[in-house]
Amino acid sequence: MSHAFQQCIHPDCQATFDLNQILTACEKCGSLLDVQYDWDQLPVPKSLKDFERRWSNRLNPLDFSGVWRFRDLLPFPKDSDIVTIGEGQTILQQNDRLAKHVGMDAGRLFLQYEGLNPSGSFKDNGMTAASTHARMVGAKMTACASTGNTSASLAIYAGVSGLFQCVVFVGSGKIAYGKLSQALDYGATTLQIKGDFDDALARVREVCAEHPIYLCNSVNPFRLEGQKTIMFRVLEGLGWEVPDWIVVPGGNLGNSSAFGKAFMELKKLGLIDRIPRLAIINAAGAGTLDDLVNNKDLQWNDGRNDADIIRSYYASMDADDRRASTLASAIEINRPVNLVKALRALTICDGVVRSVVDQQIVDARALIAANGFGCEPASGATIAGLQQLREEGVIAASDRVACVLTGHQLKDPDLTVAYHTGDPEKQAEKLHPAGVHLTPHANSPVVVENDKHAILKALGLG
Ligand code: F0G
Repeated sequence: MSHAFQQCIHPDCQATFDLNQILTACEKCGSLLDVQYDWDQLPVPKSLKDFERRWSNRLNPLDFSGVWRFRDLLPFPKDSDIVTIGEGQTILQQNDRLAKHVGMDAGRLFLQYEGLNPSGSFKDNGMTAASTHARMVGAKMTACASTGNTSASLAIYAGVSGLFQCVVFVGSGKIAYGKLSQALDYGATTLQIKGDFDDALARVREVCAEHPIYLCNSVNPFRLEGQKTIMFRVLEGLGWEVPDWIVVPGGNLGNSSAFGKAFMELKKLGLIDRIPRLAIINAAGAGTLDDLVNNKDLQWNDGRNDADIIRSYYASMDADDRRASTLASAIEINRPVNLVKALRALTICDGVVRSVVDQQIVDARALIAANGFGCEPASGATIAGLQQLREEGVIAASDRVACVLTGHQLKDPDLTVAYHTGDPEKQAEKLHPAGVHLTPHANSPVVVENDKHAILKALGLG
């Protein structure tokens, strides 16, 4: 008998479903689902430090995985069902140089670099868990809609495990080439929908509802179980101490939802004594959460949030044909599917939401890279948001802050090159339409003759 099950998050419903049902919403009321556990019946570690004993057992793939070495905190599969490709070997790095740039004290800013995952983004934390559940239910085909990283991640898990065929839905012209090339390389059937991410997600949900195809977007509650472990590794990187703040970019809001659940569970299990605050950073061109929380007063309200506010917001979005638009293509999303779970996370973590414009995003991305960590634009939103929250005085210089860098620099090289080269054509094509005209951190290549003297002169040596 399993001690894990699925449960509707709505407090007036709380319907439960078997672990082996394939669901992406409550069958009774349509709300989102959580994976829940009878913790009383499970062997919960007494202290987070207990996980350290797995460090010496790296030949066991489950102990090697940065997700599954915490398997006691996401105990839904049998060990033999777990699909792992060595995800989660990611690190928390103190970065004092960057701290100085954003007005933080030395020793207080940490970067959780999820670009080191096998497919180059945090998505692998979730996809190992979703693939595991897909195997448990005997799925033959998996699918997702994506702004690029989810598709790369799903494709690599399907490709390496050989367990499933996979199909990915992407918006046409809406995906950075690094990510598209991964889906193609790993052998995913790639459908370029004539629309954006929100359209692609709506279509893949329709198709999966009618056919036996296992959906791996973050409406899949098992995926979010894997993403909880990003926070476990942050705590691990801080010697199991809780930071003051977690800062994360918000797109479909899977990460922020998973982080809220992680801290809620750790606190309930007595494994941490306090919960960090959470800052979710939207791109201004895709600022649904920011707008709803800060301008329309939408709140979790113990799960009885005002659905009318959300409905009328989306209706006016449709009436005006308002589409998400940002250079941070990973988070170019106007209808975040985990909106309600993110509201819960904001309550659990006493969180805040902010938006940053593309100029802030591309500058912050370049600043992060100049200080040692390549990341993609969506991850740059994190530091841009931190900078803004420092200026507002919401985050103090002495607070201990962990920022999640969600994706690798090489995911979107076109934008990086456009930023640095100063090539007017490239910039006109990429940056200017988004209102970006300044490139203060640009490091332009120097064109020189094929001649030693010219090279020495360019180096200031001749
Ligand atoms: N950062 C990166 C690099 C992402 O790829 C995404 C989401 C996010 C942040 C936002 O995370 O959805 O949990 O709030 N990318 C999805 C995709 C939507 O299809 O790859 P979220």
